[in-house]
Amino acid sequence: ACGDLNRNVMAPPAPFKHKPEYVLARQYADNIADLLRPQTEAYYEIWLEDEKAVTVEEHPDVVAARQRNGNGTIFHEGEEPIYGTHYMPRKFKVAVTVPGDNSIDVYTQDVTLVVITDEAGELQGFNILAGGGMGRTHNKEETFARVADEIGYVDKEDVYDVMKAIVATQRDYGDRFNRRHARMKYLLNDWGVDQFRRQVEGYLGKPLQPYKSLPDWQFEDYLGWHEQGDGKWFVGVNVDNGRIYDNGTLKLKTACKEIVQRFRVPMRITANQSIVFYEISPEDKSAIQEILTRCGIIEPAEIEPLVRYAMACPALPTCGLAITESERVIPSILERLRSLLNKLGLQNEHFVVRMTGCPNGCARPYMAELGFVGSAPESYQIWLGGSPNQTRLARPFMERLKVDDLETGLEPLFVCFRDQRRASESFGDFCDRAGFEALQKFSDSYDPATYKARKKDQRHRIGIYGDTYALLKEAADREGRPMSQITADAIQAYVAQTTQAQ
Ligand code: HEM
Ligand code: SF4
Repeated sequence: ACGDLNRNVMAPPAPFKHKPEYVLARQYADNIADLLRPQTEAYYEIWLEDEKAVTVEEHPDVVAARQRNGNGTIFHEGEEPIYGTHYMPRKFKVAVTVPGDNSIDVYTQDVTLVVITDEAGELQGFNILAGGGMGRTHNKEETFARVADEIGYVDKEDVYDVMKAIVATQRDYGDRFNRRHARMKYLLNDWGVDQFRRQVEGYLGKPLQPYKSLPDWQFEDYLGWHEQGDGKWFVGVNVDNGRIYDNGTLKLKTACKEIVQRFRVPMRITANQSIVFYEISPEDKSAIQEILTRCGIIEPAEIEPLVRYAMACPALPTCGLAITESERVIPSILERLRSLLNKLGLQNEHFVVRMTGCPNGCARPYMAELGFVGSAPESYQIWLGGSPNQTRLARPFMERLKVDDLETGLEPLFVCFRDQRRASESFGDFCDRAGFEALQKFSDSYDPATYKARKKDQRHRIGIYGDTYALLKEAADREGRPMSQITADAIQAYVAQTTQAQ
């Protein structure tokens, strides 16, 4: 949906029933979507005919909160208590997640709420982050991607009022003169967190509490089979770049259609462009797996990890704003990256690659470890230094890399990474630590002729007992990484630790 209003509210796609925080995240995401839904029926009148197929009943707390005037958060006249006659300065995006689950790119949203429960799983309140956003414009320094700030915490009773207070702050103080400067991230940037928080508190009518400490964020994609916790199952199916179609032996469209038609199970779309089928009875599990196997859908651990963690936006030919290709070329780019990594002895490495056809950033490339942002025909700006769990903004390293120069442009960076990385350090973390100046210097003096390939066959065999092997297999399935890589990382980390201790 378009418009200068709340566009969407995301939540982790996992339908866990035995983890109250997941149930709460979904419930509050739905309720906040209702709260911030425009009251006008114009869209339905123009586009939809006949009787309504679905009517959604709003939670009474939402209905009450929409009308409650918290210090100027609503307008009394007119149809739209929250949006008034002028709506917001620009689009607005929200997510609700649970501590540690970064399946929804926490830092890229205008507002992210994090469900906080007590030990018994009872909802206490929400941590609030605000001011994230990706879209920028090339050669306009005043536009930039930004990660959200930690704003504070509210008790559960205040969650709708605080959402209204944040919306009112952006509605009343966001830039309505310059559309390129209109997202809430610029307000946060120009004001700073303290002023922003004071304004939100003014609309809320009370101070926000301090942000609660949280565990580290983990990227989750929920591919493969998982128990829901109520006896049923869900299965996450990888969709390369969000395109569901039958292509050669991979019959993804057929599989989706057959699963839904035969088993009538609901679906969720993940923030990493994949799909989750849920509410699967144990007795249907093997029949659904049979469909997936027959249609060529491979196990998550068998998916090339560069592909599994990559995303691309639609770009050409669908998107009128595209400067370059994205969705249609990323498979070949990832293949070339894999060949290059293999050639350099980095066959066990993978990292998060994201690509867009223009700087608007729909596939969130500014959070990737290696981001491609279309900058001129057949050329991409290269962004480096994001983290594997999307907690750090990448930075632009190269203004224009021609697609044809992919290997020459990236080889020095990968060799530098290979030779100078710390144990277990990912490519994005390495680029961030080493610094762009050092990377540039290395690239400038890099001579491919003097580069020595590491022999792939310098492998040695060691034996491990069955129980350790089982643990290793479990870790590989969980992390979606090859066992050899996990073993190598663990040994390197152990050696680094024991060397330090000496
Ligand atoms: C194909 C036509 C599309 C157009 C014309 C379009 C347009 C835009 C524009 C103009 C922005 C920048 C917003 C800003 O900086 O204020 C943006 C950002 C974004 N879009 Fe799209 N988009 C398209 C498709 C999609 C699709 C299919 C998705 C995903 C379902 C998507 C998700 C996003 C996300 C996540 C952002 C970055 C976050 C942000 O800054 O808002 N877009 N898009
Ligand atoms: S990032 Fe991609 S989909 Fe989004 S506006 Fe640019 S080209 Fe279009």
